[in-house]
Amino acid sequence: MKPVIAAFPATRLRRLRRSPAIRALVMQSVLAPQDFIWPVFVREGEGVVEPVVSMPGVNRLSVDKVVEAAREAYALGIPAMCLFPYTEPAKRSECCSEAWNPDNLSNRATRAIKDAVPELAVMTDVALDPYSSTGHDGFVREGEIVNDETVEALVKQALSQARAGADIIGPSDMMDGRIGAIRSELEREGFHNVLLLSYAAKYASAFYGPFRDAVGASGALKGDKFTYQMQPGNSDEAMRLIERDLAEGADMIMVKPGMPYLDICRRAKDMFGAPTFAYQVSGEYAMIAGAVERGWLDGDKVMLESLTAFKRAGCDGVLSYFAPAAARLLNG
Ligand code: PBG
Repeated sequence: MKPVIAAFPATRLRRLRRSPAIRALVMQSVLAPQDFIWPVFVREGEGVVEPVVSMPGVNRLSVDKVVEAAREAYALGIPAMCLFPYTEPAKRSECCSEAWNPDNLSNRATRAIKDAVPELAVMTDVALDPYSSTGHDGFVREGEIVNDETVEALVKQALSQARAGADIIGPSDMMDGRIGAIRSELEREGFHNVLLLSYAAKYASAFYGPFRDAVGASGALKGDKFTYQMQPGNSDEAMRLIERDLAEGADMIMVKPGMPYLDICRRAKDMFGAPTFAYQVSGEYAMIAGAVERGWLDGDKVMLESLTAFKRAGCDGVLSYFAPAAARLLNG
């Protein structure tokens, strides 16, 4: 007797995976160099390429070398670079005034890049931690991180970055009201087209360790950042922060860290439909690069897989230290 159902199973999902051509046709999330924002560490000096020990393959660059990196990024099709200054202890203070010095390292690097490669978008970081003797993102008064006084300083910092030519300003400080305050100051000063990429859902994460080494903040930081950055277990709060920042004038939002928070990326994209970015942070980079160094993981494959996951989770782009290496691979 012939079976009633001649072909079993009716749906063979493996058909869709059978050949490279079919796999390419049904591929949903495609990674490309234009998905990246490349975070770069800047330091004083000339001709300096100084390895960051806890981030194999990542260097601190003097401004001239940052310009070279910017040319490389542009040639690779990476649309934006994000600057993080390494500040020597002598330039750190309680009042953090170096943060809005028009000639501070970050602003000099911004001007140099915009002179050399005007097409490349420059993103800068707004937060006091590179300039603070306490290592905190805000002012500390009697053991507390004070919000409103910090926001006034952040506004000055953001304005100095806009004046230096920053295309995208990224407040990473997690103070309340800073997006609205920065947005209105930018409008008042005529910087109508400067974008704000808010680090809206930024978690108090142990994955930032290598970054703090890279910018010289590890030694400085007293205590933790739990009164301003989010608890890793929370999700609703992330949505409230994103909603608030978009209402205050953010053009784009970020979830940070990335890989452990892909559920937050997906939820944010589904809920708001705004340009959504994830930051694959220093510790995520270090985990992968460290294992690759030991020969435990295939570096290229793991890198591309980890970055593709952000696209699948709904992100429009990723801040990643892998940006140039990934772009090189993707360009073939
Ligand atoms: C601080 C800032 C941090 C990072 C970006 N901006 C560290 C922190 O909040 O302590 C981390 C980035 C990374 O780990 O790669 N404003």
